[in-house]
Amino acid sequence: MKQITAKEIVGNPFSMLDDSWALVTAADGEIANPMTVSWGGLGVIWNKPVATIYIRPQRYTHDLLEKEDTFTVSFYGEEQREALKLCGVKSGREMDKAAAAGLTLVKEGGFCYYAEAELVLCCKKIYRDRIRPEGILSDDDGKCYPLKDYHDVYFGEIVKVLAKD
Ligand SMILES: Cc1cc2nc3c(=O)[nH]c(=O)nc-3n(C[C@H](O)[C@H](O)[C@H](O)COP(=O)(O)O)c2cc1C
Repeated sequence: MKQITAKEIVGNPFSMLDDSWALVTAADGEIANPMTVSWGGLGVIWNKPVATIYIRPQRYTHDLLEKEDTFTVSFYGEEQREALKLCGVKSGREMDKAAAAGLTLVKEGGFCYYAEAELVLCCKKIYRDRIRPEGILSDDDGKCYPLKDYHDVYFGEIVKVLAKD
């Protein structure tokens, strides 16, 4: 992997998330857990490049994110589709998902990601809040939250970007 700047990232963020999906990896000490996401955003706030993720409170990833200051968002080629499917239906509470999915953990500079990634955003948490139903101005409360399990929103300042050579 080589280090690039956020402005050098190649790709359309809508297809990268909505079509290809990504893994959010949060770690707690020795434990690192990959979770598939397709909702999120790449943008700018407070003059910083930021990855925004939306994590429902029942996810194991949520427990880990609450404990740690950092996470990564990593993107993969189509050959890892099965791995991402697995990481989107199984919980790290039950199993070592990375091992089951054939993903190779890399720990570097306090960040955890997988060697198979094509792009890794290393993020430092700078904001967290919960989606409030009274703030939803569309009909998506009924559609997306039948269980009332409103997402927590995390802004991660992108402090390092790694791209496949
Ligand atoms: C394509 C896809 C996208 C997903 N996107 C999200 C998301 O953005 N936020 C979320 O909370 N869960 C999302 N999920 C569900 C989690 O990935 C899933 O519940 C996972 O098993 C949680 O793992 P964990 O308990 O190890 O954290 C998605 C699942 C799939 C298959």
